[in-house]
Amino acid sequence: MRKFYITTPIYYVNANPHLGHAYTQIAVDALARYHKMLGEAVFFLTGTDEHGEKIEKACLKAGFEKGKEKEFVDAIVANFKNVWGALGIRYDGFIRTTDQSHKKVVQEFLEKMKDKGDIYRGEYDGWYCTPCETFWTDAQAENGVCPDCNRPVERIREKNYFFRMSKYQQWLIDHINANPEFVMPEYRKNEVLGFLREELNDLCISRPRERMSWGVELPFDRDYIVYVWFDALINYASGLKARKKFEEFWPADIHVIAKDILRHHAVYWPIMLKSVGMPMPKTIFAHGWWKIGKEKMSKSRGNIVDPVEMTGKYGVDPLRYFLLKTVAFGQDGSFSEDVLVTVYNSDLANDLGNLLNRTLTMVEKYFAGTSPAPPRAAGDEEQDRRSDVIRDAVRGLFPAISDRLLSPKLLLKEALEAIMQVVGKANKYIEASAPWEYSKAGNMEAIKLIIADLLEVLRAAAIALLPFMPSTARKMWEQLGLKEDMDTEAVRKEISGTKGPRDWRRFPPGTKTAKGEPLFPRIK
Ligand code: MSP
Repeated sequence: MRKFYITTPIYYVNANPHLGHAYTQIAVDALARYHKMLGEAVFFLTGTDEHGEKIEKACLKAGFEKGKEKEFVDAIVANFKNVWGALGIRYDGFIRTTDQSHKKVVQEFLEKMKDKGDIYRGEYDGWYCTPCETFWTDAQAENGVCPDCNRPVERIREKNYFFRMSKYQQWLIDHINANPEFVMPEYRKNEVLGFLREELNDLCISRPRERMSWGVELPFDRDYIVYVWFDALINYASGLKARKKFEEFWPADIHVIAKDILRHHAVYWPIMLKSVGMPMPKTIFAHGWWKIGKEKMSKSRGNIVDPVEMTGKYGVDPLRYFLLKTVAFGQDGSFSEDVLVTVYNSDLANDLGNLLNRTLTMVEKYFAGTSPAPPRAAGDEEQDRRSDVIRDAVRGLFPAISDRLLSPKLLLKEALEAIMQVVGKANKYIEASAPWEYSKAGNMEAIKLIIADLLEVLRAAAIALLPFMPSTARKMWEQLGLKEDMDTEAVRKEISGTKGPRDWRRFPPGTKTAKGEPLFPRIK
């Protein structure tokens, strides 16, 4: 059985999750669900990044004394888990960097690196951006601001431990060049190769305990705390180890992140793995940012959108659909509630919801609510031709989805487009076929053919939508009256189907349909 290991970043717990975090979760959830449907052994890891100066400060600011950090983070982690639950995120592991098992793995990594001769003591004299938890040189932090987030940096002069990243610079360049899917999309790979054109500095990987104590101790010097990014990246290994899944799932198939943390994932992380001799991830995929206007959505800018509030207003599946369908994965998007409403009304209410509704209304009207057996032919050549076109569209659907979702480009938007194209064609098919005219002319064979075709489209669309809109897919299935359990392997695996006779005429004739409430009532 093929294995598939996919991760999200572990989020800082200085505040509750916002729509930007929800986006990564939803995208990874859809991909993980898809791979599970294919019958692969899937592990989807997410979690929280709980150490470091930023969290320590947030904790003090929230009125928790030093030493009470764990109480503060526990409460926020509970909120993260609630939000993920509310968005239908089904992860297989949730790693917290405050877990004992994680700390142990971090220390093992450090010991190995030390034994390898990759860690040395020195003096750090440079800049630090606390919001990004990143060290910068004089040249990088020109004008006293962080080159990533533009916020003021702090000068730090302290004795510390360093990791010999420079030693591995050429190795990393060669690895990226030899593995074109290592950093995706391609424009991000070029960005990484861009940073690597300049000489890499060794990385400062500690903070003296008297300056910053909230974190994991260096195993070889208890006066020091591990640099929070070093601690955090190791979650991808410790998260599997804690669940005894390391042997089965290592290395990651895809680390999904956003572009703000590309350098940490595409430079620090591979070099850390190389130093300890562990196999490399196959792909690091950096998606874009949700912005409000031109500004990145972030807590510090105060422009965040609450995902739970959005789902309260529009529903979970419409939010999932909107986020994945309106922006190509990799690009930035500008969030607007007006656009969300427009997309909801056009794609979900008018196209998808309406197709189900119209079809089930016709099943009731012409066949007393029982699905007809498809005739061999409609007794009308033009209608037969139209039917063939729909058949080909349905047969092409699952292959189109696998082309898109199995592509290293992670074409989530395009996969949803493929589904919506078939839905759109089916709506046009109703207009072009005009079953009401056949009814007047008394050609019931033609009507049977049309309805059987439409039910076939809806059945395939429900399966195809499962990774993206799981509860909508189930509601469609129920209203179609399908008796097979959607969760059986036989049904779920249809999604891996190739174009062929087996992908057509799967809707059982004689099925009692169960038209219900409209899936997506129009929003005014
Ligand atoms: N703790 C680090 C990651 C460590 S991973 C080993 C961190 N945390 S974070 O809370 O700042 O989350 C960053 C991630 O949240 C981004 O990489 C992205 O996945 C998601 N996003 C946060 N804001 C976002 C947007 N405005 N838009 C899209 N994704 C966003 O960095």
